[in-house]
Amino acid sequence: MITIAICKGRTAKQAIKFLVQCGYEFKDDVQTTRKLIIESTDNKIQVILMKGQDIPIYVDAGVVDMGLVGKDTLCESDCDVYEILSLDIGKCKLAVAGYANFNFKSKKFLKIGTKYPTMTKAYFKALGIRHEIVELSGSVELAPLIGLSDVIVDIVETGRTLSENDLTVLEDICDISSKIIANKLHFKTKYAENEPIINSLTSTKL
Ligand code: PRP
Repeated sequence: MITIAICKGRTAKQAIKFLVQCGYEFKDDVQTTRKLIIESTDNKIQVILMKGQDIPIYVDAGVVDMGLVGKDTLCESDCDVYEILSLDIGKCKLAVAGYANFNFKSKKFLKIGTKYPTMTKAYFKALGIRHEIVELSGSVELAPLIGLSDVIVDIVETGRTLSENDLTVLEDICDISSKIIANKLHFKTKYAENEPIINSLTSTKL
């Protein structure tokens, strides 16, 4: 059986929909079950639900064969895995956000709140702006609102969280979408087992 890690929460529904379109049916409903391991009815794949940040760790360790994870999470992880497929799900942007008309590029020094320190550092280093990164774990929009940082670097999907908190995108950094990653060793040694699954994943468009 091939194991595939997917992220709990808002992308789980899309990930399961994608796997169903690939031809798999599941013994439990991801929307309602509290189970963390769900098998397909043909017993060919097993979906493991976990936090997104943990997916590359489990795949790198070889405890699961593949993972469906956002490019943002992958960029922040230092895990050594194969990125085998780009999916049309989990689409959003990484952006610099703050108060409208805040000209962050004219500042000599910026304090930036983010859950994405690696990508943030690379972006501001390339711009040549001196900065301090305040690493946060959620509700990042609070940082400029209550004075912890000048701007934030965060994921923007619908833009609703920003607009409802009187903030706006100041600059897009890059597009983000979900990727299928694989354990390097398993991808080679379990290739015969993986191939039909990889074929069904690559030939399916959500
Ligand atoms: C993410 C992100 C934004 C929000 C953007 O947070 O950090 O806060 O989604 O989505 P929107 O553009 O559709 O409003 P998430 O929901 O993952 O929760 P978090 O704040 O706990 O990180």
